[in-house]
Amino acid sequence: MERELDQLEAAALEELSQIDDLPQLETWRVRYLGKKSALTSVLRGVATLASEERKAVGARANTVKKSFQIQLAEKKESLSLRSLDESLGKSSLDVTLPGRPLPYGRMHPITQDIIEICSVFADMGFQVIEGPEVERDYYNFEALNIPRNHPARDMFATLWIDSREDSNARLLRTHTSPMQIRLMERQKPPLRFVVPGRTYRYEATDATHDWMFHQVEGLAIDTDITLRDLKETFFEFCKNIFGRDTRVRFRCDYFPFVEPGAEVAIECVKCKGAGCRLCGGTGWLEILGSGMVHPDVLARCGVDPSVYSGFAFGMGVERISMLRHSVDDIRLFCSDDFRFLRQF
Ligand code: PHE
Repeated sequence: MERELDQLEAAALEELSQIDDLPQLETWRVRYLGKKSALTSVLRGVATLASEERKAVGARANTVKKSFQIQLAEKKESLSLRSLDESLGKSSLDVTLPGRPLPYGRMHPITQDIIEICSVFADMGFQVIEGPEVERDYYNFEALNIPRNHPARDMFATLWIDSREDSNARLLRTHTSPMQIRLMERQKPPLRFVVPGRTYRYEATDATHDWMFHQVEGLAIDTDITLRDLKETFFEFCKNIFGRDTRVRFRCDYFPFVEPGAEVAIECVKCKGAGCRLCGGTGWLEILGSGMVHPDVLARCGVDPSVYSGFAFGMGVERISMLRHSVDDIRLFCSDDFRFLRQF
């Protein structure tokens, strides 16, 4: 009996060594390890043998079975690997090629500058808040001392949404100043806020004008705010955004909602004050409008002008970005030209 098992093992392993595909291997498994195989019937018959023989034959048969199983598993693995190799070799897919790098997205240059501008003010204690782009006549004009038919409306070519002619008429805000009113209505002083956002004007576009642009509004209201605070705030702001040595100029300007009003300019970033085309030969570049909040505006919002005072400002973000990055056409910011956008 044991001799038969030896022969069986030798024959089976010899056959196994000849096999070189998976279907043949399955036939081999059925023949040597299947229910009807010689090995299985030997194992089944073990119980009927005399006890001496039973032990020896049983042990031998089990070893043979184990060895078949191990060799079968090994062969299966090597055949599977070979067939994977072959199928990869046949297809035109080269899995060893390095992957294509994904392009990185990034923030729009205007967004980057808004974040930087706001963080400079945040460091000075200003909170950052946004407001609605669709506004009411009241907030965009009336509450800011610009009643209907006031000539100052000419400063703001307006995109109207409603044709009605009252305080509730909707429009696309022409500046971020309406948020001065909303903030004062909402919260008692002291107040210190900056408001970044989109603004709209019904204007022809050219290299320095677009019908949509961004502003950052600022508002500070407290019991002891003076023009000096406004000036110091801008010295600090310009130092951070344009560099340590940037000179800043204040000049009187008119906005109905501030008194006095001031226009702030910085020394030309290109010619450093000598006069060039960028600054129109003046040596200065205007970057924002500002002033002390008009007492009538304060009173209208329920803030007592005999107790409180404050300053406000509004800066054009595109203008600042153009100066910082030497961009000579505002329309590039809203073009879909990736060659332009990728530079930032
Ligand atoms: N809102 C004004 C503009 O768009 C700028 C401004 C803001 C001026 C606040 C004074 C105070 O031109």
